[in-house]
Amino acid sequence: MFYKIILRPIFFLCDPEFMHDFMVFFGRTFGAIAPIRFLLELVWGYRGPDISKTVDGIRYERPVLLSAGFDCDGGLMRILPSISFGGEEVGSVTARACAGNPKPRLTRLVRNKSIVVYKGLRNQGAEIIAKRLVKRNADEGFVVGVSIAQTNDEKVCDAEAGIDDYCTTFRIMNKVGAGDCYTINISCPNTFGGETFAKPELLKRLLAKLAEVPCSKPRYIKMPINLAWNDFKELLDIIGTFGYNGVVIGNLNKDYSLIDFPEDAPRKWRGGLSGKTCFELSNELIRKTRAEYGKRFTIIGVGGIFSGEDALVKFRAGADLVQVVTGMIFEGPSLVREICNAYASEYPPTRAPAQQ
Ligand SMILES: Cc1cc2nc3c(=O)[nH]c(=O)nc-3n(C[C@H](O)[C@H](O)[C@H](O)COP(=O)(O)O)c2cc1C
Repeated sequence: MFYKIILRPIFFLCDPEFMHDFMVFFGRTFGAIAPIRFLLELVWGYRGPDISKTVDGIRYERPVLLSAGFDCDGGLMRILPSISFGGEEVGSVTARACAGNPKPRLTRLVRNKSIVVYKGLRNQGAEIIAKRLVKRNADEGFVVGVSIAQTNDEKVCDAEAGIDDYCTTFRIMNKVGAGDCYTINISCPNTFGGETFAKPELLKRLLAKLAEVPCSKPRYIKMPINLAWNDFKELLDIIGTFGYNGVVIGNLNKDYSLIDFPEDAPRKWRGGLSGKTCFELSNELIRKTRAEYGKRFTIIGVGGIFSGEDALVKFRAGADLVQVVTGMIFEGPSLVREICNAYASEYPPTRAPAQQ
């Protein structure tokens, strides 16, 4: 309530990207101070029964993660456990640093519970972020995944250069052992060359090259959510062939017709939509993936979670873990604990779904 009545109206008066950068600065700075972490934990920490879960051999203290795009440079590992997160996806990280697309890169559509994201993968680049992640001083049970995308500039506009770029980052991360698992983001709608690797032939080429990089950690693919089921399934079959552990379903929504209040939309559309417009699209794909492939894939459900009940819809559809970004920005950090509480009541330790 304090967040929604006092803080959010102030935050939402400010430019969204300024606010985002401010929150990341705040989180990085205050996350280093133990008494502040303790206070945050008092306010926003989850204190219910054990809801830890082991997925692909990794133990998550809580099954709720911060999705890619918020902690782009990996500075929030210390503070996130204090507000009940069980892990995060850092990034998306690219081989070279990216300055991002021309501004405005973020536009809030408040009534639509959505953000137009045109960030263009702004991050400090793989070398710097890998060093930071290796020094990690995150809590035990807090899982750090690394989301990997292709550098967003004109040097990486053909498939060959894109593949090399992904491989460079994947190699850097694996060489130094940064992160606990990796997600290959093939579905960022905001890159220079577009969503190239969501096409079956190119995905095969990308995954074949990535397979040459030694990696002993779980690997996932971040999926687009605007594909017809048959096209989505074709990608899943390829991903299965290359031995990936699972999929993150999914990325931003590119179908602008799905917003409730089109009159609030920016005059010039650029980028993808987060939040509520992703909810049903991702749920449907999660449901179908679980029904078609059983336990073959770990499913990480993301898109439009604004309440504990929304998260349960994703778990019931078949997600093993869930991620949030926009919901946390709109509802405040208490959303994470709310999801943990909902999970604990739906799946108390004695009835927890089978662990992978
Ligand atoms: C500001 C912002 C930046 C994002 N950047 C990335 C990114 O770099 N890589 C990625 O895989 N997804 C990115 N996403 C997509 C989110 O990870 C997530 O898939 C999507 O927003 C749906 O979840 P939500 O409704 O909880 O926001 C971004 C989303 C937002 C809101």
